[in-house]
Amino acid sequence: MRTEMLHGMRTKLGHTPGGDLDPADWQGLRAQGHRMLDDVFDYIENIRERPVWQPVPDSVRARFREPAPTAPTDLAEVHEEFMRSVLPFATGNVHPGFMGWVHGGGNVAGMLAEMLGAGINANLGGRDHAPVEVEKQIVKWVRGFFGFPETASGLFVTGSSIANFIGVLVARTATLGVGVRHTGIVEADKRLVAYVSAAAHGCIAQAMNLCGVGIDALRIIPTNDRHQIKLDALEAAIAADRSAGVTPFLIVGNAGTVDIGAIDDLSSLASIAHREKIWFHVDGAFGALAVLAPDLAPRLAGIERADSIALDFHKWTQVPYDAGFILVRDGALHRDTFASPAAYLRRETLGLAAGMSWPCDFGPDLSRGFRALKTWFTLKVYGTDALGAVISHTCDLARYLEHQIIASGDLELLAPVQLNIVCFGYRCKDSNRLNAKIVVDLQESGIAAPSTTMIGNRLAIRAAIFNHRTRKNDIDALVKAVRALGNAGVSTFAT
Ligand SMILES: Cc1ncc(COP(=O)(O)O)c(C=O)c1O
Repeated sequence: MRTEMLHGMRTKLGHTPGGDLDPADWQGLRAQGHRMLDDVFDYIENIRERPVWQPVPDSVRARFREPAPTAPTDLAEVHEEFMRSVLPFATGNVHPGFMGWVHGGGNVAGMLAEMLGAGINANLGGRDHAPVEVEKQIVKWVRGFFGFPETASGLFVTGSSIANFIGVLVARTATLGVGVRHTGIVEADKRLVAYVSAAAHGCIAQAMNLCGVGIDALRIIPTNDRHQIKLDALEAAIAADRSAGVTPFLIVGNAGTVDIGAIDDLSSLASIAHREKIWFHVDGAFGALAVLAPDLAPRLAGIERADSIALDFHKWTQVPYDAGFILVRDGALHRDTFASPAAYLRRETLGLAAGMSWPCDFGPDLSRGFRALKTWFTLKVYGTDALGAVISHTCDLARYLEHQIIASGDLELLAPVQLNIVCFGYRCKDSNRLNAKIVVDLQESGIAAPSTTMIGNRLAIRAAIFNHRTRKNDIDALVKAVRALGNAGVSTFAT
């Protein structure tokens, strides 16, 4: 730890009355900046020596309750506080033992890019500058990943929750016309309904809420034993809605369900949607970018026929948070869903305000950070082959874990392993309580950090292997610890 070295090395930034916020002593700032960079490199390089996660002690939490500072503090001192109170108590998803929820591991190239991006402090809402060209280049690349036409549009957003919301809004425009932006759905002559499987992420219902159509207009279609949407049930629901006089406007397919990583039959969904003239959106939050892995890409067949796709670079492709993305086949419709003329955003043919379409025309945000830069660095530095190989490798590790579970005798698999997510439990009479306790104990042990989910009425230990640093020995450590904790707890929970 380098924090002790920081004492006595004070970095005064500009806080002379009437002065700017830059340092009076640039040499001192450089030295301090390098120390900060070294500390974060140390953190990542030696991540395996740390616990995956540790609870935030009350004494540390108390420090975050201090009032807003009115007077300056030395940069070195704030850095020291970060090293003491923030870094050791982070989520832990940089660690190879982190297997909870759907968290990417980040990468050093993306991290450095984030620093460069912050340095030029670009605002990607619009205007004519190279950062917007970087984002446009990624839009072009993403079109290529999915075989979308040149006229397709794309936009970086925070994450798939917002990307899915944008997809739902464009689908709403496709059915009700751009006039709905003014009249709202209250004035619409159609009552809209949408369809998604029971395995969908909660952000789809949230998007229905936010777009004003309402959560009750989302038909939840049952799934088969592989957690994929039942196509016959979907078709029956569409037919029933049409006979009842309501208008189906959207089918959402899953490319990697959040609980177990199931991929819907996207090809059949595309055919149903096209036949029925319904917008076909794919929630590919993590799974869509499996198109980069040649062994997995065929499983996504049909995604290239979607009208829109939500995906996250911050998940399986390891870009530091956040880097969500929406891709829309009909770029003009996408633009028409959001573009709003304003005198203060006037477009010119020359000068800084040049360009007919700005990123702010494709989403609700005007000011936007440079998410594209860390994604650009990640894609360029590693290349899509290596990122695809990471994705494949995490699926190999999931299969390895599946084999360990099957071979163990005392562990049981609770859902089919389809990608990189394994849902399992320690066998026991009161297994839900025992497995919930195992997960908390595991997280607190610092050995591994899976999360939980419900598979039917069974609580599962859910190991979602997204981190590019995870290896077989991390899986072995997880299995060993679960078995030990299960063994120790089984007598309490069996009765
Ligand atoms: C399938 C799926 N959809 C949507 C989301 C929401 O994505 P985000 O957290 O990036 O908003 C997630 C998050 O894990 C997800 O797994």
